Amino acid sequence: MNATVFVEVVPSTNPLKEGQRKKLLEDPGFGKVFSDHMAVARWSQDKGWHKAQIVARAPFQLDPASAVLHYGQEIFEGLKAYRGKDGRILLFRPEANARRFARSAERLAMPELPEQLFLDCVKELARIDAAWISQGDDASLYLRPFMFANEAFLGVRPSREYIFCVIASPSGAYFKGEGKPVTIWVETELSRAAPGGTGAAKCGGNYAASLEAQAKATKNGCDQVAFLDVVERRWVEELGGMNIFFVLDGKTLVTPPLKGTILPGITRDSLLVLAKEAGLNVEERGYSFDEWRADAASGRLSEVFACGTAAVITAVGQVRYQGGEFTVADGKAGEVTRKLREQLIRLQRGETNDSHGWVSVVA
Ligand code: PLP
Ligand code: COI
Repeated sequence: MNATVFVEVVPSTNPLKEGQRKKLLEDPGFGKVFSDHMAVARWSQDKGWHKAQIVARAPFQLDPASAVLHYGQEIFEGLKAYRGKDGRILLFRPEANARRFARSAERLAMPELPEQLFLDCVKELARIDAAWISQGDDASLYLRPFMFANEAFLGVRPSREYIFCVIASPSGAYFKGEGKPVTIWVETELSRAAPGGTGAAKCGGNYAASLEAQAKATKNGCDQVAFLDVVERRWVEELGGMNIFFVLDGKTLVTPPLKGTILPGITRDSLLVLAKEAGLNVEERGYSFDEWRADAASGRLSEVFACGTAAVITAVGQVRYQGGEFTVADGKAGEVTRKLREQLIRLQRGETNDSHGWVSVVA
């Protein structure tokens, strides 16, 4: 059942005309424009993974009883294909996404997708839709692998049929405002993930659970929501779609530890490595909202930034919560944030020596 599954490439007979594509690529925003193709593979109990193909992007036909529509059995990933200055198409640590996808599948009682099949689908899609990948520090082709339960059955048990798919979306910056620091809403009532729950998995349900808090953040003039732990409602965990780092005294990086309730970000992991190499002190430890406020008031807190595939590294300038607000240092992007961002972007675009073997050349 786990024999190598080959990906058949069936090019679209009706790709978008060059002029229309170029127009869309001028200002794609995030997650609104889609490329010509998608990867699809299917799983059933008797056949395992089969029928893996790259085909023209098209809607699915789903039975209204499909399990995903009722019980939310769905997982996803997010990674980007970049075009280097030399024209090469590059991926950043796609194996880490494949591994995290496998872990998410296990937590949602879904069949494991062989890492090789994940990688083949992602790479073939980036190759066939390479014309959708622009150059530039904010430009990329955001790749969204996902898997969902499509057995038509209303009993509550793991589905016996699944679809794996990868779509691609040419993207610019996630936050509007070209690197302007964002404002964070610290949510003190609504929770995202509990110990023993699915917080460490990348499943749609976690994001559904975060939306009311995100709407509250927006209502309060904030760009993103930060969640606290559910047990003590003290410890900072992560944002709705990003991990978070605090910079103390300009030289110590603090980020919450991975205890099963936050997503083990690949950007987070990469920055921990890069920061250590840059001689910064790195601490993965609990950081409470009280400590955050106290450090901001005393001036110890020099910078805060959010990080993730979509957001890259984004400075946090302002913090709001029920009953107050404060500014992080002078409210501008600090030096550590700027340097790490620059270093990561250069690395992802193949412009610096890839000493960790993190960059995959796709074409
Ligand atoms: N935390 C959450 C909830 C996310 O959705 C993401 C984005 O994928 C991250 C953290 C950052 O993860 P990564 O750096 O792997 O993109
Ligand atoms: C990502 O950074 O890839 C994410 O998944 C965050 C968000 C767009 C859901």
